Formats: sequence, structure tokens, C-alpha cells
Amino acid sequence: MKKARYMAPILDIKELSKTFRIHRLERNIPACKDVSIRLDHGQFVGITGKSGSGKSTILKLVYRTYHPQTGSAVYDSKAFGPLNLLQADERRMIHLRRYEIGYVSQFLNVVPRTSALQIVETSALETGTAPEDAREKAEDMLRHFELDPELWDNYPQTFSGGEKLRLNIAKAMVKAPRLLLLDEPTASLDNHSKKKVAEVLMRLKEAGTTILGIFHDLDFMEGLCDLEYNIEAGKFTA
Ligand SMILES: Nc1ncnc2c1ncn2[C@@H]1O[C@H](COP(=O)(O)OP(=O)(O)O)[C@@H](O)[C@H]1O
Ligand SMILES: [Mg+2]
Repeated sequence: MKKARYMAPILDIKELSKTFRIHRLERNIPACKDVSIRLDHGQFVGITGKSGSGKSTILKLVYRTYHPQTGSAVYDSKAFGPLNLLQADERRMIHLRRYEIGYVSQFLNVVPRTSALQIVETSALETGTAPEDAREKAEDMLRHFELDPELWDNYPQTFSGGEKLRLNIAKAMVKAPRLLLLDEPTASLDNHSKKKVAEVLMRLKEAGTTILGIFHDLDFMEGLCDLEYNIEAGKFTA
């Protein structure tokens, strides 16, 4: 009899809960409760649920933008082996954010006086792309997302919302991270730009990237995701 080879999941979120304390109101706001999501290597899982149900909180806990409360999120890292992201030290988190885990939201954190092209190029360099290739990779990404070449050398502070968003996505995708966290990255994009995002996501998935994403547009998500986790139901629903 052939023995099935057990492969550890790349990310195993178990019983994750988070409550915010609003001191001003002396109230506790539960943000997410007992969330368990298992992602196998190369899988694309979408999180669904009503607004305010805690979807973004899950990603922020995994990326450690928020401090954890209870539960665990064991990530099978390339650099350090399996480790609980909720407890990993800051030095390791910095390494993982730089080399292994990408995060894209609707918002762009812009570095002052850095051009759009420099932002994407720096992102490619950070993951170890050779300097002679980084520029070309960055240009390819910006071209793919159809950011007007006139804008490449501009600072993105003055970009429109859609331009910022496309730049933000290009910046994260150029790294081809092992694990990609997406928080409604397509929220304010038109259909054509959404298609561009879908194309790159498919490419990344084929190259082995595991994706945990939240999408505003369920139709968009259904064409891409392998599984759907509904936060209110507390389980995979499709
Ligand atoms: N930093 C924060 N401080 C206080 N409350 C927060 C914070 N972040 C999220 N929340 C609250 O937690 C709940 C879940 O928020 P969120 O994860 O953003 O939901 P979703 O992404 O599903 O819309 C909401 O009630 C929200 O107000
Ligand atoms: Mg959200």
C-alpha cells in the first residue's frame, strides 16, 4: 500500500482570537474569535464575511501589525523552519516580511522622495534580485499594471488612488513572496485593472506562492480561490 506523504501546511492558524480594549469607552471590542485556517503549500484561500467581522484583523495578526492575544499561527518558514508568527521575535519578523511574506492592502505607505520605479526596484532588491536585473523586473511589473511611464520617476504622493494601488500591488508582487496576504487590494480598481491583478496572482500561484486573501468582489475571488473560509460560519464553506 502506498503511504501518503504528509506535508506540513505552510500556515496553520489555530483558534486565533483578538479583542480590542477601547480605554476611552471602557469597552472591549471582539475583533475575531476562534479562527482556524490551514493553508497547504501553493493553496489560495479566500476569507469572506461581513464588514467588521474581523477579516483584516486576521491578516494583521499574521503579519504582526497587531499584537496577538490567543491562538497560534505556525508558519513553515524557509529561513527558520516552523515558527509561531504570533510569538516570533521582531528580528525574525523583519526577515520574514522582507524575504518571505508579502502584504498588500488598499493603502500605500509611501517613503518620502522615492519615485514609483525606485519603490518597486528596492522591493525587488530586498529579496535578493541581482542589481542588474532589479530595474528590469520593476519596469516589467509597472508595465504590466499599466502605470503610465510618465509617472515612473514621480513621487507617488500625488498619484490617484488607483495609481497608488497598482503601485502598491506591483511592489509586493515583484518579490514573488512565498506567502502573500491580500486585504482587499482590488477594492477601488476598475475591471481592467482587476484583471491585471488576477493575471499576476495566477502567475504567482503557478510559481508556488501561497495566498490568503480578502476580496471585496466575490466574483473576482471565486475565479481564483481554491477554498473559501467564512468567518461567521467559522469554517471552510466552498
Ligand atoms: N486597531 C483597532 N482598534 C480598535 N478596534 C479595532 C481595531 N482594528 C479593528 N477593530 C475592530 O475590530 C472589528 C473587526 O475589524 P476588521 O478586522 O477590520 O473587520 P473586517 O476587515 O472584516 O471589516 C471591528 O469592530 C473593528 O472596529
Ligand atoms: Mg477589512
